[in-house]
Order: sequence, then structure tokens, then C-alpha cells
Amino acid sequence: MSAETSQAAESQGPQGPSYTESGTLTPVLTDIWDAQRSWSMETYRAHGGYRGLARAKTMSPEELVTLVKDSGLRGRGGAGFPTGLKWSFLPPPDGLPRYLVVNADESEPGTCKDIPTILANPHSLIEGVAITSRAIGCDHAFVYLRGEVSHVYRRLLAAVREATESGELDTGFGLDGDQPLRITAHAGAGAYICGEETALLDSLEGRRGHPRLKPPFPAVAGLYARPTVVNNVETIASVPAIVDRGAQWYAAMGTEKSKGHGIFSVSGHVAHPGQYEAPFGITMRELIELSGGIRPGHELKFWVPGGSSTPIFGPEELDVPLDYESVAGAGSMLGTRALQVFDETVSAVRVVTRWTEFYQHESCGKCTPCREGTYWMRQIMLRLEAGRGLPGDVEKLEDIASNIAGRSFCALGDAAATPVLTGIQRFRTEFEAGCTTPAWELFPYAASSIAKAR
Ligand SMILES: Cc1cc2nc3c(=O)[nH]c(=O)nc-3n(C[C@H](O)[C@H](O)[C@H](O)COP(=O)(O)O)c2cc1C
Ligand code: SF4
Repeated sequence: MSAETSQAAESQGPQGPSYTESGTLTPVLTDIWDAQRSWSMETYRAHGGYRGLARAKTMSPEELVTLVKDSGLRGRGGAGFPTGLKWSFLPPPDGLPRYLVVNADESEPGTCKDIPTILANPHSLIEGVAITSRAIGCDHAFVYLRGEVSHVYRRLLAAVREATESGELDTGFGLDGDQPLRITAHAGAGAYICGEETALLDSLEGRRGHPRLKPPFPAVAGLYARPTVVNNVETIASVPAIVDRGAQWYAAMGTEKSKGHGIFSVSGHVAHPGQYEAPFGITMRELIELSGGIRPGHELKFWVPGGSSTPIFGPEELDVPLDYESVAGAGSMLGTRALQVFDETVSAVRVVTRWTEFYQHESCGKCTPCREGTYWMRQIMLRLEAGRGLPGDVEKLEDIASNIAGRSFCALGDAAATPVLTGIQRFRTEFEAGCTTPAWELFPYAASSIAKAR
């Protein structure tokens, strides 16, 4: 939590914020991140934790689904699909299991909200898992976590154990609402594609993580071919406060179609990078101000609103409200609110090259446009960065990227094409300069470093 967020949390007390205006921080998920042993059940309870679950146990599954629908909560994994509606897609109970799977694979460059949430306040997720399980009639839920973050995995395991031993999960779950809840924390092997929900399910079943053909969608045939809800960590962790404080409280924050609060992760060339929890509709200008401004002596060159897979914005988009509709209307995507800021010292060619290397490395290889195209794009980007581009390379990049976007099996292909296409669109002369001059001569890399010389 940023210092500003912390101050705001202190001034509002344990009940959290009640105001909604844009530009104001609304610490709910991040509320206790700076408390002593914030990850423990004791601290979580002292701040009102598990009140939502107690209330949920007095409600029917249908009432819970309606409550979440009324709140306007939308999926925080990137696409913003309405959460209550997704839960309601499960077919009627047939006596056999149905599952909740939490997507904690968080791997997109710049995205850094789910893993900090699990590290600082894992019980917000566990309580959300319990409430959601009750809402969908599930008695066995899974959390699929990125495997490299072993310290976070240990914290998650400890929180699951603590919640189980406390008796909170003893009854109230399953098809009849009277079963205990089992939560399995699964550590993946570290693959970006396993964040795609169907690849995640294949991986969880013990197979290689490749996306599945849809339909059938997970709601109909998901984990072990049973009805399954897949939701992001932040989505599920947002549920307890909604059940505790009510749908109206949540819906009063944000904009008409993008309601509520979210974690905005500001990284890069600002004075104080960090997590800023705010209502949807806050602008990048306000977030940059909250994070202390662009680092002293520099000016903004470009930024991305939702991670490396979202089209690049410039200074002219600073006042676009950060909600799903407005960002899409301005030509990008809100994605995971991974706001990366780059000042004038940064080479756009260098940045796009690093992102392209990432997507080429993470392409699962299942379909040809992405498997081959990302490999070709990486080769061309590397020679442009080195000032050894060939005549026609920029046009060739555009051609390859256009043949990946919209023609790949899953959205990773689109993600790989986006930085290349929007990078060229915004900074064509820099890309063309890559045919004669290395990017590190045009933009000496040391000037972009935020590490201070001793
Ligand atoms: C390549 C790729 C990677 C993804 N990675 C993640 C991820 O790490 N976490 C996540 O929640 N969703 C990720 N998604 C989106 C999921 O497929 C899915 O839409 C999401 O987990 C649904 O949860 P939500 O409705 O709560 O947003 C990814 C999608 C793609 C195509
Ligand atoms: S688009 Fe890329 S990641 Fe997705 S299935 Fe095709 S090869 Fe795999």
C-alpha cells in the first residue's frame, strides 16, 4: 500500500471509505496491508474479516448471486465480465460436483495486484472463496497460483490451514449448503498461458497448459468436465466487503457501468510507484499526482493502462476516465490496471522488444500464427533495437502482427501483436531509425534507470 493509501485508511478507520468521488482513494482490499501481521486471521478478524461469510451463511445461494449481480462487480482478471452473471451461468444442480477455481497465475508484464493481495491479506481471498463456494454450491475450491512465488504459496497454504482449523469452513457449503469446504492451493510451473482460464484447467488436471476450444465454456464443462466458475483473485477478494456492507455501498463507487473500486498498480517513472486502490473512473493524471508525479526533471512519453497487452497511450489520454468503457472508447483496454509509465528517456523500440521477447517465450505453440509470428517478430525487433534493421522491416512487422491479431487460437496472440502495432503507430520514426542506429545510442539506457548511482 502506498503511503497515501495508508494515510487515507487511517483517517477512515476500520469501516473503510464512504465517499465515491473520483480522485479519492478507497482502501478496502488494501485497507490492512500496513497492519501488524496483516496476513493473520487474527488481524483480519480485528478489521471486520469473516463478517461477510457469517452473513452469507444466513442467505441462500440465489440471494448471494443476486446481491453480487446488484453490486455491479465485474471480473478483475482483465476482461471485466459481470461476476454475478457468470455465477448464474452454471446449470441447475444435478447431484454431482461443481467447482470454483481462482486464477492467481498473474504473469502479464506490469500486472502486480493479485500476488501482493495474497501476500498481504490472504484471508480476504479465503473468505471470498468461501462465500462464492456457498453461492454456487461448491464444496471443493482451488486456487491456481503462479509457481515461482513460493513465499506467497507458503502464505496461502498457511491461511488455508488457519481458516480450516478455525472452523469457518466446517459447514455451509456444497449442493445442499451443509457440507464442509475444502480449499486446494495449487502451484503451477510458471507459464503465462496458464492464466488463460481453459489452459489453467488443463494444467490443474495435470496436463500441459494449452487453451481449450470454446464452447463448451467452463460454466458448463470446466474442471474434470464439471460446471466450474473461474474468477480472478481480486474479483473473489472483493466479494466479502460487498456481502458485509451491501450491494448499494459498492455500486455507489465508480462509474455507471464500471462500478466499485479496484487496485491500480502504478509502476515506472513516477516518484512513488505503488498500489493505489481507487474507484473506477479515476484518471491517469490523478494517479500520477497521487504517486508524486513523473520523476523530477522528466516528462511523460507514453503509458499503458492495463499491462503490456493493451494499446499504448500518450500524454493526450491522461484525462480518460479509467473505466472499461472510456478506456475502450479511447482505443485501449483497462485490462488489469497495470499502469506502466515511461518518460522521455525511454526507447519505445526497446520496450516493445522486451515485451515481444516475453510473448514469444510464453507462446504455447498450439497455433501457427502465434507460434511462428511471435518468433519472427522477436527476430526483427532485436535487429531494429541493435540498429541493424533491414529495409522494409517496419512494414514486415506490421504485416506479421496483423496476421497474428484476430487469427490466433487464444488472446495471447492478440496480446503479442498489440505492442508492436501500437508502438509503430505512435513511434514510427523511432522504429525506422532502427535500420541505421541502435536504440541505446538514441536513448542511452542508463538515463532510464530508476536505480540511483551510489
Ligand atoms: C494469455 C492469457 C493470460 C491470462 N492471465 C490471467 C491471469 O493471470 N489472471 C487472471 O485472473 N486472468 C487471466 N486471464 C483471463 C482469464 O482467462 C479469465 O478471463 C479470468 O481469470 C476470469 O476471471 P474474472 O472474470 O474474475 O476476471 C488471462 C487470459 C489470457 C488470454
Ligand atoms: S495464440 Fe499462442 S498461446 Fe494461444 S493457443 Fe495459439 S500458440 Fe498458444
